[in-house]
Amino acid sequence: MNHTDNNDGIVRVAGLVGSLRPGSYTRLVVQLALEGAAELGAQTQIIDLRDYDLPFCDGNKDESHYPPDVARLRRVVREATGLVLGTPEYHGGYSGVLKNALDLMGFSEFEGKTIGLLGVSGGRIGASHALSGLRTACRSLRAWVLPNETSIPQVAQQFDAAGALKDPALAERIRDMGRQVARFAYLHSSHQAMEFLRAWEEAPINPGGEWAS
Ligand SMILES: Cc1cc2nc3c(=O)[nH]c(=O)nc-3n(C[C@H](O)[C@H](O)[C@H](O)COP(=O)(O)O)c2cc1C
Repeated sequence: MNHTDNNDGIVRVAGLVGSLRPGSYTRLVVQLALEGAAELGAQTQIIDLRDYDLPFCDGNKDESHYPPDVARLRRVVREATGLVLGTPEYHGGYSGVLKNALDLMGFSEFEGKTIGLLGVSGGRIGASHALSGLRTACRSLRAWVLPNETSIPQVAQQFDAAGALKDPALAERIRDMGRQVARFAYLHSSHQAMEFLRAWEEAPINPGGEWAS
């Protein structure tokens, strides 16, 4: 079973923001999810891709021409036990900047990690295409994506002037996604949980009953 090495037992949840726009709504909702994770004691960190000098992924094995920020991004994501990925809907998919960031990383950063997905859109339909695409990418990266995801249509109308969501139920849903990421990140990474699974796998089969083989 794949799980994250987490020797210190600390749950770290990073939020990757798939928009470079100043005042991004994606950033606001990712931040809200991280608040939920922090409520359960997780260490949190927002990853704002504007702070990283990232080239386009060119697929070359020799990466000596990549700037140091590629390694910095990989390190931050690798150190996270769980992740929140936030994206705007861009032309029926997730944003190019997020796609490129994912392409610059791989199994070392994502395999076995718990992931929560959030999407925002300017239009009424929501960010369902962006979220489906992200879910598929996370599956390819062998991550564990939470079944619940949140898509926020007409996102500009959902926030007040202070940058808070007007609908408390929606805000709570997003915070709860952050809590779920923290919970399952803990389960996937904790030595106690792995020890429990090992003991269960080695335990004698429960005798009797209709399910006994
Ligand atoms: C290149 C581009 C493509 C977009 N495509 C869509 C779209 O297909 N559907 C939609 O509802 N909104 C679309 N939008 C609007 C964004 O989803 C909306 O502005 C969103 O708030 C951007 O996220 P941000 O606030 O985090 O930057 C598009 C915006 C841009 C810049």
